[in-house]
Amino acid sequence: MPKGPWLSWLERLDGIEEVVGSSPTGSTMAKRIFLTGLRPTATALHLGNYLGAIRDVLAIQEKGAPFFLFVADLHGLTTEDPQKVAANREKILLTYLAAGVDPQKTIIYYQSALAEETLLLEIFLSRFFSVAQALRVPTLKEKVRQPRQASLFLLRYPALMAADILIQRATHIPVGKDQEAHLEVSQLLARQFNRHFGYLFPIPRPYQTQGVKIIALDGQGKMSKSRPQGAIFLNDHPEEAKQKIRRAVTETLAKPPKEMSPAVASLFLLGESFANRQEKEQLANMRQEYFRGTLKFVHLKEVVGQAVGRFLVDFQRRYQSWQQKPKLLATILEEGNRRAKRHAQETWQLVAAKTGFTLPRS
Ligand code: AMP
Ligand code: TRP
Repeated sequence: MPKGPWLSWLERLDGIEEVVGSSPTGSTMAKRIFLTGLRPTATALHLGNYLGAIRDVLAIQEKGAPFFLFVADLHGLTTEDPQKVAANREKILLTYLAAGVDPQKTIIYYQSALAEETLLLEIFLSRFFSVAQALRVPTLKEKVRQPRQASLFLLRYPALMAADILIQRATHIPVGKDQEAHLEVSQLLARQFNRHFGYLFPIPRPYQTQGVKIIALDGQGKMSKSRPQGAIFLNDHPEEAKQKIRRAVTETLAKPPKEMSPAVASLFLLGESFANRQEKEQLANMRQEYFRGTLKFVHLKEVVGQAVGRFLVDFQRRYQSWQQKPKLLATILEEGNRRAKRHAQETWQLVAAKTGFTLPRS
């Protein structure tokens, strides 16, 4: 361990583990800051999004650490029409609020509210990111194979994501496995910036969440908006949701079955996520029946449908109630945008000082 004041030691350090941990004197060096975003590409999210992403957000906001939660509307523009993005971003906001995001605890905002700071930072970060490197990012590599769909803006996706994170100097990023490659780019760019200009950014790390994966009801891979027949959307009519569950793919039970198929495991998971006490007991019994080889899937589907249906009724009631308060909604968004932007401006000032590149006064 080098001697001297820990700040100079920090400046030479390029690993996250040490940075967000404790300093040689035992104090915490970088404040824990959580940050995550969702792209507004669909009119409604499905239960996979809810259980895989939104429920984690609710757990994080109870930790009491600063938490930046945004709608990634600029990222939406990489693949969608601006009109669609503008219409959908409010739906994501309403979904967050209806799910229980508390604007007193969580800073909730649109990415575009800090477009200036974010895009400026992206310029500095992308100077460390070659076109060849961008083309190697797995998510982009696939899309670039269809050249008509791959715009130049799409290629900027990972650097823009890095800018979202670093403009708030966030340390903990709750995202699913599909975002790991992007987060690695953020880490790389934070390190490069620190190395060239002196330490400014804590290296953001993925924040391990529960990591549940919901299988599509038709058994075809994970629940996804691209196959609506296998997905339950948060705005599905509860009866329609029950119908979908009744039609869900199960399995022919071996006696006794060895391992539960992912489709059936996912049905149990859906049920258990929304069950009341009585339903939890019923589901626990059904698990035992499953392993005895005596479970009747109609019974399982009935209980899962009931639990999911009740959740949808409650969720939709809360969603509509927020929808009926446009003034409050606007105030919440304004306040969130303002706080997020103020923090981003602070970071931008630090970037300007480090790089020596200040903006001319206008
Ligand atoms: P997407 O709808 O693919 O843009 O994903 C938005 C968020 O929801 C990401 O954090 C995903 O990891 C999560 N997610 C999407 N589909 C599922 C699923 N079937 N099960 C669990 N999480 C999911
Ligand atoms: N790329 C993320 C997704 O598609 C959304 C996103 C944009 C994001 N910027 C971010 C997530 C910054 C976490 C941090 O789901």
